Amino acid sequence: MENPLHSSAYKVLSTSIRADLPESVSQSPLSRRGFMLLAATLSGCAVADPSRTLSGAAATKTTANSAYRTPAIRGPVPRNPDNSLSSNFSNDAGIAFSRVLVSGNYIAMTFDDGPHPQNTPRLLDMLRARNIKATFYVIGRSVEIYPQIVRRTVAEGHEVGNHSQTHRLLSKLSDSELRQEMSRCQNAIGRAAGVRPRTMRPPYGGLLQRQRELVHKEFGYPVILWSVDPLDWKRPGASVVTSRILAGASSGGIILAHDLHGQTVDAMPATLDGLLRRGFKFVTVSQLLAMKTDASSAQMGASAPSY
Ligand code: NI
Repeated sequence: MENPLHSSAYKVLSTSIRADLPESVSQSPLSRRGFMLLAATLSGCAVADPSRTLSGAAATKTTANSAYRTPAIRGPVPRNPDNSLSSNFSNDAGIAFSRVLVSGNYIAMTFDDGPHPQNTPRLLDMLRARNIKATFYVIGRSVEIYPQIVRRTVAEGHEVGNHSQTHRLLSKLSDSELRQEMSRCQNAIGRAAGVRPRTMRPPYGGLLQRQRELVHKEFGYPVILWSVDPLDWKRPGASVVTSRILAGASSGGIILAHDLHGQTVDAMPATLDGLLRRGFKFVTVSQLLAMKTDASSAQMGASAPSY
């Protein structure tokens, strides 16, 4: 049976569409800018770059996701309730957590490996629209390059945590190298935003028990792992990231995601709205720790995931 895509009718149709487009545009009473506005509106893109060529604006069939921009929010989005919950947790609360036993549907959304010059501000806009405060585990090296993004993150009420200076696998480092990774990132955050991080997350989740005790004792950081990992860094597609997070979310959960990756940020409107509609209330990691109900619960084992 002949493939319908190879039928002569389809060829004629597709050829005529391609052949017609430039011609119809050149004869159109619409101005060039008017057409670009129209084309941009139809494709859901913001009209931001007047240097975009006509062919670029018309070529909406892109295979890469890099051109994707989250459509502008139309209509109201669900809103996280205001909270004035304390973020003062006790240092005795524990050394490592993958979740926290709390009463109530509270969860903490965490974003690692930023700041990123485009994706982090885009995410901050999404969070602000929903009154959600999140926790960002930043890399000191990137903080030094984009301090203004960290400043904005803190100014908008989010928590910033220590994710090391250079994102090395800390379990391979000597104690003095580990201290350097922690203190350099802590200092970079302090210089950028005037705050001291209160929790840390080891890159790849990799930190030996002895090292966990060291950073807790010397820096006062509890080690924050996660209860939900959507493997978003493998770029499975925004809808898959959303469905994995929605499937894994539970009270007291700590959700791992990466604002370094555009696709993860693309997934956030549906993810955040889905969690809000399921009745979850977002808090920062420190707020979650401060509402912990059982001092002996939720200690984390020593497993280190593979990334
Ligand atoms: Ni990381």
